Amino acid sequence: MELQNDLFLRAAKGETTERPPVWLMRQAGRILPQYRALRGKLSGFKELVETPHLAAEVTIQPIDELGVDAAIIFSDILVIPEVMGLEYQMVEKKGPWFPETIKSMEDVQQLRMGAEAAAELEYVYEALRITKKELKGRVPLIGFSGAPWTLLSYMIEGSGSKTFSKAKKFLYTQPKAAHALLDKLTETIIVYLKNKINAGADLVQIFDSWGGILSPEQYEEFSLPYIKRICAAIDEAPVTVFAKGAWFVLDKIGDLPCDVVGLDWNTRPEFAREKLGANRVVQGNLDPCVLYSPFENIKTKTKEMIKGFGGNQIVNLGHGVYPDTPLDGVKCFVDTVKSL
Ligand code: CP3
Repeated sequence: MELQNDLFLRAAKGETTERPPVWLMRQAGRILPQYRALRGKLSGFKELVETPHLAAEVTIQPIDELGVDAAIIFSDILVIPEVMGLEYQMVEKKGPWFPETIKSMEDVQQLRMGAEAAAELEYVYEALRITKKELKGRVPLIGFSGAPWTLLSYMIEGSGSKTFSKAKKFLYTQPKAAHALLDKLTETIIVYLKNKINAGADLVQIFDSWGGILSPEQYEEFSLPYIKRICAAIDEAPVTVFAKGAWFVLDKIGDLPCDVVGLDWNTRPEFAREKLGANRVVQGNLDPCVLYSPFENIKTKTKEMIKGFGGNQIVNLGHGVYPDTPLDGVKCFVDTVKSL
């Protein structure tokens, strides 16, 4: 079906658009009362993720409520470790938890991978197909995956962490096992993203949420080459790479064969343009906490940021929107961009 609003896709491909497109990372979720109402009726987060018609429903909620220019499929990055063999639980108010973790090369060798593992995610592909149908071409649909390093970090730590010192220790003490695991993750992610595109995703985004905790040398050895392999393998749709906190390798990220470079709020527009050049399409990067401030400030900060990048931008926050953000602040941000 032909897209009625293809601003986001045109901008991602580097075309000039009437105004910059806008969407928010984590827009499908707890900021919306509709989401909280539906979620409250279910046994938990995973029921929502694993029930395709419900996942489709919450994917479309922000399109109706906020009028953003793209939808992102409701799911989680942790479905990949799960189908490779590490089941996860989403603990209320705490976050993800893995009963089993990876400790050695033997553990890595036990894991499923590639097409075999990706085939287990039929519920995600079905959610994409339903969403695509129900969107009726209103806006493009984004698919996503965690980056190999970010997924490895959960598989070693078993949960979130302030320092990710266990995961970093694994890189320093068992580099061979780390590379073997990153390799298996990469092969799985490539098939997974291709399947998602096949099921209706118009663009895919790679989240390297914990990129910023690595040293530059570690990033270049354990994250960048694997993201590069994924970007090079995906030629069916545009790819966005969002490596949070990885400003210290921004020039290298700029060299990746991807279409869009996602930026977090620590990155000044001038710094990004110096490292990436004027023509690279960027996505970001307003501090999500600006949305707690008065409307006048939200408008000013949003316009300043857009001016700072000077074009070739998909407007977004510098990370996911926080659950307690006032909905009116979110709407003010979206409407400011749409009025340009
Ligand atoms: O962006 C969207 O709206 C689409 C859905 C989406 C979710 N998770 C839903 C979710 C996406 C793109 C993700 C990606 C994700 N998941 C990342 C990368 C993006 C980032 O923020 O850096 C990461 C690191 C995860 C892992 C994860 N999932 C954590 C750490 C948590 C707990 C913390 C939290 O935000 O609650 C989750 C749970 C999660 N994933 C929720 C949602 C809506 C909250 C669950 C709930 O409804 O209670």
